[in-house]
Amino acid sequence: MNLTKIKWLLLFPLRYIFLLFGKDWRTFYAIILNRQDRKLDISSIKRVKHDTNFWALDTGKQVKKLLVNKGLKKNHDFLDYGCGYGRMALPFIDYLNDNKYIGVDLSKVRVKLAKEYIASSTKKKSYKILLSLNQTMYSLVKEKSFDFILLYSVINHNPKSEVYKILKELKKHLKPSGKIFFDYQEYNKNNPNNYFTTFLGFTIERSVKDFSLKTDELNYILKELDLKSTYIDEFRSFKDSIASNHYKKMVMVEHA
Ligand SMILES: C[S@@+](CC[C@H](N)C(=O)[O-])C[C@H]1O[C@@H](n2cnc3c(N)ncnc32)[C@H](O)[C@@H]1O
Repeated sequence: MNLTKIKWLLLFPLRYIFLLFGKDWRTFYAIILNRQDRKLDISSIKRVKHDTNFWALDTGKQVKKLLVNKGLKKNHDFLDYGCGYGRMALPFIDYLNDNKYIGVDLSKVRVKLAKEYIASSTKKKSYKILLSLNQTMYSLVKEKSFDFILLYSVINHNPKSEVYKILKELKKHLKPSGKIFFDYQEYNKNNPNNYFTTFLGFTIERSVKDFSLKTDELNYILKELDLKSTYIDEFRSFKDSIASNHYKKMVMVEHA
């Protein structure tokens, strides 16, 4: 077992120590991300050609194309929930009219990097990237509601109880005809992405920040929240190198 694996394994007990001290998942997750990305800067990132990973604009372009096919218009209000470094943000900011894009993320390092990345890659100035840690959506955007809300590679980094809280809050900011799109990792015992390693005969989850959802669990959450879902078949042909698409799914969620 290499050092990186050992470091990741140490995060499991650390998470429970956090819980004991009353710190929630978002705080713990934000601390991991801020630490992981603390040495990143835009110039080093731009020196590398990113076909894949979280700087791959092509992934953002694919998602933008999909959402335009699903009815996204230039004058729609758009929320990029968990905007990360801005890979999704750039194609959407370039497509949407001024002041229509809002990105939120709970990592202050990523919010800073996203702002730099976007500012250095588009001439548009009228968008917002907001730090959401310890904030409610209401405190960030007041009564504003959105036509389209995107959570790309976000649900799979949240435990089930958080997924419920996130969707419950986002429902309040979804217009009556609005649509939420998110991908998630479907639980399947054969999915190699579920497992990180086996150690002394025990199977250890892939990482402290990767989660899969059973279809029943997702359906239960959506039913509780009075939301309906449609699976997005086009997602199967997406090029996304982060994880095998085999067990990844995308859904569109609307008011029931
Ligand atoms: C894997 S990254 C994906 C970033 C971006 N959506 C993309 O596709 O490039 C997941 C991001 O979601 C953010 N995130 C996860 N849960 C969140 C929450 N409850 N509120 C805000 N941001 C969240 C994380 O901070 C992280 O930057």
